[in-house]
Amino acid sequence: MAKICVIGTGYVGLVTGTCFSDIGHQVVCLDIDESRIKQLQKGQMPIYEPGLEQVIEQNVRAGRLAFSTNYRESLSGADFAFIAVGTPSSDDGDADMQYVKKAAISIAEHLDHPIIIVNKSTVPVGTGDWVAEIIQDLNSQDVPEFSVVSNPEFLREGSAVSDFMNPDRVVLGSTDPEAAQKVADLYETLRAPIMITDLRTAEMIKYASNAFLAARISFINEMATICESLGADVRQVAKGMGMDKRIGPSFLEAGLGWGGSCFPKDVKALAHMADTRGAHPQLLQAVMDINHNQRISAVKKLEQALGSLRGRLIGVLGLSFKPNTDDIRDAPSLDIIRMLLDGGAEVQAFDPQAMAASKAEIPQIILCDNPYAVAEGVDALLLATEWNEFKSLDFQRIKNNMRGDVILDGRNIWDEQDLHEMGFTYMGIGVPEPK
Ligand SMILES: NC(=O)c1ccc[n+]([C@@H]2O[C@H](COP(=O)([O-])OP(=O)(O)OC[C@H]3O[C@@H](n4cnc5c(N)ncnc54)[C@H](O)[C@@H]3O)[C@@H](O)[C@H]2O)c1
Repeated sequence: MAKICVIGTGYVGLVTGTCFSDIGHQVVCLDIDESRIKQLQKGQMPIYEPGLEQVIEQNVRAGRLAFSTNYRESLSGADFAFIAVGTPSSDDGDADMQYVKKAAISIAEHLDHPIIIVNKSTVPVGTGDWVAEIIQDLNSQDVPEFSVVSNPEFLREGSAVSDFMNPDRVVLGSTDPEAAQKVADLYETLRAPIMITDLRTAEMIKYASNAFLAARISFINEMATICESLGADVRQVAKGMGMDKRIGPSFLEAGLGWGGSCFPKDVKALAHMADTRGAHPQLLQAVMDINHNQRISAVKKLEQALGSLRGRLIGVLGLSFKPNTDDIRDAPSLDIIRMLLDGGAEVQAFDPQAMAASKAEIPQIILCDNPYAVAEGVDALLLATEWNEFKSLDFQRIKNNMRGDVILDGRNIWDEQDLHEMGFTYMGIGVPEPK
């Protein structure tokens, strides 16, 4: 069993470290955020990820998992150092590499034995070489033997533990096939297909995968807009398309579009990489534009249904960028709320996990304790995130609580006919008006 140090204890690093410990490796999860590490050392969760807390608890108790802010101690004797720090967008759309750079420098400063450095962060193509250069340069005299392997992560927030434990594939890229094989061995018990490529190709597989998934969602959202103008039902269109084995059903749900910590920044970064090398990423640009327009179009639908936004009270169900996470990075809900506030409306909202973070971003949001409190006195109700608990609400109670009757089902989860018959003015995304 290997000794692993995972650098960065966010959604990816914490899940990676925990799951590696669960399959028997000895893991230290390291972060520069002291309060995060203190929380973890006390058994408290810094993020909401279903099922993770229990696996952490078991492995800490078994002595296989620990948390630290100390690079020297965490790297001491480690066979592998996984980099899993954030790579957010910078102003020009490129990935901001300051955290990866700092992590690489810290590894270099504390490196006193041979090690394999594994890049799990989503990083621009060529980063593997760059990390190797940083470490080489800082240790120019007497550098211990090291290799860099790219191992992009494909887990999804909300099902991260099970995604990590049951990957469709493990992608590894390196100029050192022996090092790539050693990383492959870490995953052996998961029995997943393993693909070994060169460094740049592995990095590119991650961007291409996310861009493709984002493109599928933007595609179906464009179909939804066309359906609305033609009176067709995008839900049936998606179902009919998805039954074709060449297409498949996933990532074909029309709605308010994609958000989160990955798709937006990764599509942008890929387009930026292409742009700066003289390629013209027209499709990627369209994928981003369509996604942005979904948010604008939701606000327009509400405005049209209400006559004006000014002075209106609008209820929003769901704030996280998708269900089963507390992550609000680039959440469609928050963009839409900002536009509603700009238009002169007031907004009250409920989310099972993302209320405090949303309030910190947009202090004007009035927070409510449950969906029925959100409906209280509102002119319109917007479903922004399809948490399970919103799927079967008591709509009579909602109706009694509301001042108006407008419902915008931004994720197409409710039965439009039922709501129409109850007296709501129902709008979906690509769903024909109920009669
Ligand atoms: N979140 C996802 O669903 C997901 C899925 C696949 C891939 N990824 C990629 O994985 C990477 C990490 O994403 P995330 O969502 O886990 O990020 P995150 O923001 O949740 O966590 C990053 C952590 O790294 C820590 N950190 C920053 N600099 C550090 C340093 N120098 N040393 C030690 N720790 C440091 C931060 O304090 C933070 O806790 C990104 O590149 C992302 O694109 C994310």
